[in-house]
Amino acid sequence: MHLFSVVSAAVAFSALADAYTWKNVKTGGGGGFTPGIVFNTGTKGVAYARTDIGGLYKLNSDDSWTPLTDFANSSTWNNWGIDAVATDALKPQTVYAAVGMYTNSWDPSNGAIIRSNDAGTTWSKTQLPFKVGGNMPGRGMGERLAIDPKLSSTLYFGARSGHGLWKSTDSGVTWSNVTKFPNVGNYVADATDSTGYNSDNQGIAWVTFDSNSSTTAGATSTIFVGVADTANSVYVSKDAGSSWSRLAGQPTGFLPHKGKLSPKEHALYISYSDGSGPYDGTNGSVWRYDITASTWKDISPGVDPYYGYGGLAVDLQKPGTIMVATLNSWYPDAIIWRSNNSGASWTPIWEYTSYPNENFYYGMSNTNAPWIPTVHDINTKTIGWMIESLEIDPFDSNHWLYGTGLSVYGGHDLLNWDTKHNVSISVLANGIEETSVQALIAPPGQSLVSAMGDIGGFVHSSLTAPPAAELPLFTTSTSVDYAGQVPKTLVRTGSASDGSAIQIALSNDAGATWNLDYGASTSQYGGNAVLNAGGDTVLWSTSANGVLVSQYTSSFSAVSGLPSGAAVASDKVNSTVFYGGSAGSFYVSRDTGKTFTSFGKLGSSSAVNKIVVNPTVAGDVWASTDTGLFHSTNYGGSFSKIAGPTVGYAFALGKSSSNTYKYNIFGFFTVNGVEALFESKDVGSTWTEISDSAHGFGSASSNPVTASLDTEGLVFVGTNGRGVFYGTP
Ligand SMILES: *[C@@H]1O[C@H](CO)[C@@H](O)[C@H](O)[C@H]1NC(C)=O
Ligand SMILES: *[C@@H]1O[C@H](CO)[C@@H](O)[C@H](O)[C@H]1NC(C)=O
Ligand SMILES: *[C@@H]1O[C@H](CO)[C@@H](O)[C@H](O)[C@H]1NC(C)=O
Ligand SMILES: *[C@@H]1O[C@H](CO)[C@@H](O)[C@H](O)[C@H]1NC(C)=O
Ligand SMILES: *[C@@H]1O[C@H](CO)[C@@H](O)[C@H](O)[C@H]1NC(C)=O
Ligand SMILES: *[C@@H]1O[C@H](CO)[C@@H](O)[C@H](O)[C@H]1NC(C)=O
Ligand SMILES: *[C@@H]1O[C@H](CO)[C@@H](O)[C@H](O)[C@H]1NC(C)=O
Repeated sequence: MHLFSVVSAAVAFSALADAYTWKNVKTGGGGGFTPGIVFNTGTKGVAYARTDIGGLYKLNSDDSWTPLTDFANSSTWNNWGIDAVATDALKPQTVYAAVGMYTNSWDPSNGAIIRSNDAGTTWSKTQLPFKVGGNMPGRGMGERLAIDPKLSSTLYFGARSGHGLWKSTDSGVTWSNVTKFPNVGNYVADATDSTGYNSDNQGIAWVTFDSNSSTTAGATSTIFVGVADTANSVYVSKDAGSSWSRLAGQPTGFLPHKGKLSPKEHALYISYSDGSGPYDGTNGSVWRYDITASTWKDISPGVDPYYGYGGLAVDLQKPGTIMVATLNSWYPDAIIWRSNNSGASWTPIWEYTSYPNENFYYGMSNTNAPWIPTVHDINTKTIGWMIESLEIDPFDSNHWLYGTGLSVYGGHDLLNWDTKHNVSISVLANGIEETSVQALIAPPGQSLVSAMGDIGGFVHSSLTAPPAAELPLFTTSTSVDYAGQVPKTLVRTGSASDGSAIQIALSNDAGATWNLDYGASTSQYGGNAVLNAGGDTVLWSTSANGVLVSQYTSSFSAVSGLPSGAAVASDKVNSTVFYGGSAGSFYVSRDTGKTFTSFGKLGSSSAVNKIVVNPTVAGDVWASTDTGLFHSTNYGGSFSKIAGPTVGYAFALGKSSSNTYKYNIFGFFTVNGVEALFESKDVGSTWTEISDSAHGFGSASSNPVTASLDTEGLVFVGTNGRGVFYGTP
């Protein structure tokens, strides 16, 4: 139980609730960006990983990770954007995170600092008076949140958007603006971006306490702050935060990504890049600031870098042993360097012997996620990209972790770098599931198939073991459907990384192999495609070219009568019938998609969000809208409005043996004012919430849902950043 939901409106009207058990459909490989990993420096084995859209995780002793923020629901979905995490060296069970997704209008809510005294099992929250940007540019700079190592009731948080440096002296309960801090940052990635996303001031990048300084009234005296300002990147206070000044002698020209203290050396290491990340970087440097001597030294490992530097690790057991990573070296691969002499000299993790031949000073194991080498745009990159997090376990010099744009990696023999210059790296993301799920299908008798952002999606032949390969052809898949009467025939839309290829594909073997649909042109893309019951006709509601139809893979041509952007579905039994929905009206085609006719509005709806068709009865069709849920049993000729839901998003029909309709309904609806995941076992007469205070699934409106036609009660929920969940009663 999460503290946030002690008073749950849902409980009041779901006394008959089936408690569902929720688990991730396992991919084992993360599947997204991990901008930060933080080890506790006081207690062995305590570490956290933060993701940009999929919440926070805690490390377990077997290298697996446990999600900690699955409470995020339709009203708190922005809590899955984790802009910073801090773990208390004096109280190992205490952890804080700065949560919020966007600082522009895409996120309606202000950010918060969440805090837990039981290692993330339960949380308390303090709302901040501004937004926090866990998925904003520069999200790998950090950590923006830091706990005073001597007086852990004191914390600092570096805000974005010009909101400055914030301080708490009561363990994160209340926060106040450190108005004396002289620089709120000035770096914006692209001032011309009218959405406010790239034009936001990235603010304060990190706060690092000097644990090897004196104390002032119990608090650490010396504090360094990195700021997103290429001319003034580092500030210092020597009086526990009373006064601040620009640190003298600092390098200029780049942004400070990480500022890591090596206490026994009494040195501050800083990685710099010319961009804020996570995708960019064409130049950068690494500097060592000797705190005692107040001297700076450029210790950059790369000569003529074409990259910036991101992840930076300090071995607390071995003063002078440090590691640094390229933020992005897109070709041939990221570079990680290690030095055991404070940066005087470095050795790389790979190097050219004679171009293009390379020596690889590592072995890579993908056993935990065998699909990783099949990722469509991985090309020559084995180490990774977007490396902002790189950490050496403070209690174990052999144990290291790093996060990339795709996964979390690391190993347990890092000291072999110094002896035989060869280490074993493994995918160590077991338990992190951070994919953005675009669509899900569970055709009868077959495996779950997912369409995903950034990685194409999977045929999930097991729910508990990672898939062997991602779906081919597309770096992002946007939709997937199966033909009702030949369910091994699938259609999938997506996009290749360069956008130059056909962006729709067909499979005749339940997703094992795919061929591009040569009826399409390369200028047709996006949206949703569905197959008719017989599997010979594709109806495609594209992003830019309206609704198109193609039979027998002939050229796609515009349909008549169905507006651009319409929701589409096919009858699962009658091959000549397709359904459409747009602006609150329902449309039917009875000529295999050539022409559509509208029977008018579904009640007072102004949007049709999803159309779901009975898998075994022709003409039986459901539509969710901005006013609720509607049901027709005569090919859309007439609809009845279902009592209960007042808004509906994605939903699905799953096997039922307890009603004569033979299907239960699962989906995201607003019922009695609560927007959540509901189930109806009586064809819509009564509704029970099956999400709960510990499983909120984030934003309801973006989550795909499907349900098993073979196993009663088995329901699948896709999320935007927390992978696919499956639930069983
Ligand atoms: C979502 O979470 C918030 C905070 O815990 C809670 O107040 C709200 O009731 C939850 N909403 C639903 C639909 O459960
Ligand atoms: C916090 O203080 C800074 C000055 O350091 C100021 O620019 C900023 O507007 C303040 N932010 C808020 C939210 O009060
Ligand atoms: C503090 O730094 C000095 C070097 O300036 C070093 O000799 C000493 O061991 C450090 N102390 C701690 C506790 O790290
Ligand atoms: C990279 O930055 C360094 C240090 O500022 C500068 O000397 C060098 O010219 C830059 N390289 C390029 C290619 O701009
Ligand atoms: C390092 O070890 C791996 C096997 O773990 C091997 O493939 C690789 O060739 C080794 N590198 C060198 C330079 O010997
Ligand atoms: C330091 O690193 C160098 C280069 O990898 C290595 O040859 C040397 O043995 C290392 N020294 C120690 C004490 O590990
Ligand atoms: C399928 O739909 C077509 C077109 O409306 C209709 O003529 C035909 O009777 C339907 N077939 C069945 C089996 O219902």
